[in-house]
Amino acid sequence: MTPAPIATTVPRHFLQLSDWTTAQLSDLLELAAQLKHELRETGHNAPLLAGKTLACIFEKPSLRTRVSFSAGMTQLGGSALTLRSDELGFDERESTEDITRVMSGMVDGIMMRTYGQEKLERIARSSDVPIINGLTDLCHPCQALADALTLQEHFGTLSGLKIAWVGDGNNVARSLAVMAGRLGMGFTVATPPGYQLPPEDIRRIESQCPGLKINETDNPKQAVKDADCIVTDTWVSMGQEAEKAKRVTEFAGFCVDESLLAAAPARAVVLHCLPAYRGYEISAGVMESARSLVFQEAHNRLHAQKAILVRLLA
Ligand code: CP
Ligand code: NVA
Repeated sequence: MTPAPIATTVPRHFLQLSDWTTAQLSDLLELAAQLKHELRETGHNAPLLAGKTLACIFEKPSLRTRVSFSAGMTQLGGSALTLRSDELGFDERESTEDITRVMSGMVDGIMMRTYGQEKLERIARSSDVPIINGLTDLCHPCQALADALTLQEHFGTLSGLKIAWVGDGNNVARSLAVMAGRLGMGFTVATPPGYQLPPEDIRRIESQCPGLKINETDNPKQAVKDADCIVTDTWVSMGQEAEKAKRVTEFAGFCVDESLLAAAPARAVVLHCLPAYRGYEISAGVMESARSLVFQEAHNRLHAQKAILVRLLA
């Protein structure tokens, strides 16, 4: 497959969705669908990244991100290597800038999962190769791209869909809000008091996405009443483990369960980026129901990220 040339240039990095225009994100979704179709129909993809290497650095655990980037590079004819951050020793064994400059001369791209977005941006500043955000405390843009691909597959269109986020105002919620704004979807967020998206984030996202008005509530049933898609995520993100007991208490009533689903339109589907904690943010019954797209969503990480890799590395 030769992907159609994109009409506009793309940013050098994939650090956060707001750096990418609606046209550029739509192009990624179209390319992801083409790559998925090609793999399904022929059993393989054209080797668009032959000879290319992606370095994957993890400062937090991962299943989906690790496997999808690794398998994605292999399917595109390239290879991926996984590096442990403690072995690289950022700013301990060697400065972050020196590590990045060395790696830039040896690999064709770097995917990193870390805590602060600032660290990723610092790496991007000293890198000659594209940097891809594999999750930070601020955002999870690869996840939002896979979510959009999943909704596109299910509904056939994205514009006009209404997303209801139920749970923590976290990294995944921020990226999905930007994706909604870029692609013409509505976004409502239902969080317990104290767990809202920070007001400055709401203001920033709305200013980055003209036309987007993020609706906020502390009432999950209110949030889902006209939703096409209900999305949730763990109440305890990586790095927040010490707050688990407090959070589990304070998120009571925010489980996406059968009674919440009954308050939503019959067309509403459920997404969750996984890993899921059944009985907390989502019930086992909803996870396994016909309205749950969570495993399609997880598998779409592979296809969505291959589109990012092709646009940045090919
Ligand atoms: N959804 C997601 O990013 O999964 P991992 O943490 O397993 O990579
Ligand atoms: N919000 C979660 C997402 C996990 C993929 C976290 O940051 O841990």
